[in-house]
Amino acid sequence: MKLKQFRYSEDNLGYLIYGEKFAAAIDGGAVKNIVFFLKNHNLELRYVMNTHTHPDHTVGNRALLDSTAAEYLEIADLIKKGSFEVEGNQIRVYHTPGHTYDSVVYYFKNILISGDTLFTGKAGRCFTGDLEGFLQSIKLLLVLPRDSLIYAGHDYVKEYLETAKSIEPDNIHIDGFLKNYDPEHVFSTLEDELKINPTLRFSDEKMISILRERGLMHDTELDCWKSLLGLAQK
Ligand SMILES: [Fe+2]
Repeated sequence: MKLKQFRYSEDNLGYLIYGEKFAAAIDGGAVKNIVFFLKNHNLELRYVMNTHTHPDHTVGNRALLDSTAAEYLEIADLIKKGSFEVEGNQIRVYHTPGHTYDSVVYYFKNILISGDTLFTGKAGRCFTGDLEGFLQSIKLLLVLPRDSLIYAGHDYVKEYLETAKSIEPDNIHIDGFLKNYDPEHVFSTLEDELKINPTLRFSDEKMISILRERGLMHDTELDCWKSLLGLAQK
């Protein structure tokens, strides 16, 4: 199974998972480019699905379903089943409420399609307001192998890493990551995120001392998470 990333709109990122004959589109807003790619690679689109139902992610669904024989997989059904298959390969679906109640991430091989749950440099915005639930969702992702490749729903790399740098100016990993940043192929590894993403470092002594110095809540893991999300949101 392979993955192809498609940019669309200003900073949205959508994906095709594909094998020899069949493909599945996740947040397929780049309709024209996706259809072109399918034709070029002799692929049949089997499924259309989303990481959550914000309109910038679902915008391509109708056109993809109308121009192919693909079936739409509802998020609620995917959550219930926990996975789907393309050419006998299992793609796992994890329910990760936080950005929205219906947020899911997809995982296969060592690839994580993280939608708006986790970006390079910051966890997503918590529109559910349930920060504790969101932390549980993020913790599900932190136990994945460190070499997992993370493919997010937007390219906010420069903006979020600028903020990360303002929180921790002496973090050399951030500059290192930015040197290799390629807008044509936007991804990170879980290992990268654990070094450059302040919102994932709610148990890290250095981050906790930064929160202490700034007079922000830091007594518990949940306090740190809340403070770090708040700092990164500014
Ligand atoms: Fe969203």
